[in-house]
Amino acid sequence: MAATFDVKLETTVYHPDPSYREGARMGDWETAYQRFLDDPEAFWADIAGELEWFRPWEKVREWNNPYARWFVDAKLNITANCLDRHALGDRRNKVALIWRGEEDGNERVLTYRQLHRQVMRFANALKGMGVGRGDAVCIYMPLVPEHIVAILACARIGAVHTVVYGGFGASALNARIRDANAKIVITADVGYRRGKRVALKTIVDEAVVNAPSVERIVVLRRASPHLELYSEMEVDFHELMKGAGLACEPEVMDAEDPLFILYTSGTTGPPKGIVHTCGGYMVGTYYTTKYIFDLKENDVLWCTADPGWITGHSYIVYGPLAAGATVLITETVPDYPDPGVWWRIVEDFGVTIFYTAPTAIRMFMKFGDEWPAAANLESLRIIGSVGEPLNPEAFEWYYRVIGSSACPVVDTWWQTETGMHMITTLVGEPMKPGFAGRPIPGVVADVVDREGNPVPPGIGGLLVIKEPWPAMMRTVYNNDERYQQYWNTINSCYTAGDLAVKDEDGYIMVLGRADDIIIVAGHNLGTAEVESALVSHEAVAEAAVIGKPDPVKGQAVKAFVILRLGYEPSEKLKTDLTYHVRMSIGPIAMPSEIEFVQSLPKTRSGKIMRRVLKAKEMGIDPGDISTLEE
Ligand code: WT7
Repeated sequence: MAATFDVKLETTVYHPDPSYREGARMGDWETAYQRFLDDPEAFWADIAGELEWFRPWEKVREWNNPYARWFVDAKLNITANCLDRHALGDRRNKVALIWRGEEDGNERVLTYRQLHRQVMRFANALKGMGVGRGDAVCIYMPLVPEHIVAILACARIGAVHTVVYGGFGASALNARIRDANAKIVITADVGYRRGKRVALKTIVDEAVVNAPSVERIVVLRRASPHLELYSEMEVDFHELMKGAGLACEPEVMDAEDPLFILYTSGTTGPPKGIVHTCGGYMVGTYYTTKYIFDLKENDVLWCTADPGWITGHSYIVYGPLAAGATVLITETVPDYPDPGVWWRIVEDFGVTIFYTAPTAIRMFMKFGDEWPAAANLESLRIIGSVGEPLNPEAFEWYYRVIGSSACPVVDTWWQTETGMHMITTLVGEPMKPGFAGRPIPGVVADVVDREGNPVPPGIGGLLVIKEPWPAMMRTVYNNDERYQQYWNTINSCYTAGDLAVKDEDGYIMVLGRADDIIIVAGHNLGTAEVESALVSHEAVAEAAVIGKPDPVKGQAVKAFVILRLGYEPSEKLKTDLTYHVRMSIGPIAMPSEIEFVQSLPKTRSGKIMRRVLKAKEMGIDPGDISTLEE
């Protein structure tokens, strides 16, 4: 791929009602961005000053490329901000969490005071099992309030959580447990999905084989009759809670202590454990929840992600709770029992801020306008998008049908690695379909060529961040070299790995990944993990996977497979391989197409050239293939 190329930029501009800008917490972009540029440290210190610290910082930031420290020597506990600050103050009876189960009427509501108490109890339960500061805890749960309680309980005592999305299979879970060295796995007997039970505990049983670090498995038992717990290792979630004391002082953490590890796909090798820290991450997620979602006291925020992804960590759990918001979570999927269920939830709970992914928006477009039309969506004030480019058609539908041609659409570009929103269009600012928007105040982003020179408007290039920011990852767990690559690929810039283009106003259009990550239905998949799952099947000698454009999922996985001697291509084998990937990584990684081939295009050094496969697949010129061997 050449580093730069021309892109067409014409678009309709949408101007939100002036009342949005007048009431916006951030104010207009120019003024807020200038305030940041005038004194970046004072800008961040002001935001951090809205939160509670056990001890203030000596310095706002210390930057030794590629290593940053934020709020140097400050002490805090993020749960003191997410819970105590509200539960011991005026928000004590404010609803923190609304949970809606799969069936109508199956609801639970927790106030800040109640959530605070549950978290303290579970934190004590963890302590009782010998979990302490710096210990890793793996959370593999359905989307129920206990999931949030488990996350916060870890943070309360300084344990490092690593949440694994419940859609992952046993081998993906095993790899993450082992890499993180998790001492405890917290799970549930089942999750409910489309009226069916997903047996999470069974997957955990398989995943903890060959995971010697695991001492205990905590099981939230939901189904009746209760699943039996056999071994000494297994303990019941509620039993633990019952036996635990109520008061649990928050552990005093250093701003730079790790808060969690979250795995994201790598282009090569195993998934990367992205490490986020207590102080900077808290400030970044608090700031963006409050100012990008323009959070007001009576808002009901529904981020439809799962806590297993960074979106859930930042905009279901830490950001919103630090800001004292009311958060809605639900175990429902968008199309079961029918495609109207989410819109009825918006109406029933008066959701004001709705945050979802383009893949969901495109799916709703396909179902038709009658489903959202059947519900009253007047409560909505702001609608957001994240995960992949929001194409103009989807933007327009979302804006018109869901937002009644009134709600600002915040298309937020960010990553697991960035921890917080980085680029978007502020509430009240003109919106351009196809463009995420401008860097938010606090973030310095640009589009550059391979040497790091900014490219002019209309010319595509690489998206980079030029200055450190508080919620940036601090390292890749067990692989600091990989971390350094983010900052040394292009001269002293953080390379996001995305292609992008700017227009004359500085609005940025994100075009997609530059490398070998495939984004399927908003889930970030590494080609390496899918390929290694395929190769682990007895019939497969070698495999390469690419992302192919898909009208709903954004991209779909296509696999090219070379069979071992003695195996013949067949439809049955395709089905077996698809199932095999499903079992090892999960449904999101299932190839939608498998092609048996005799050879794969490779470089002389033996690296598979996926872009050649991709170019061929899409009937386009593969570009420079001088390094091609076969
Ligand atoms: C990649 C990061 C951040 C939470 C979800 C994904 C793509 C994300 C946008 C957007 C265009 C986007 C990028 C990015 N992406 N948001 N608004 N417009 N692309 O987190 O799994 O770490 O994936 O998602 O390609 O690099 P992630």
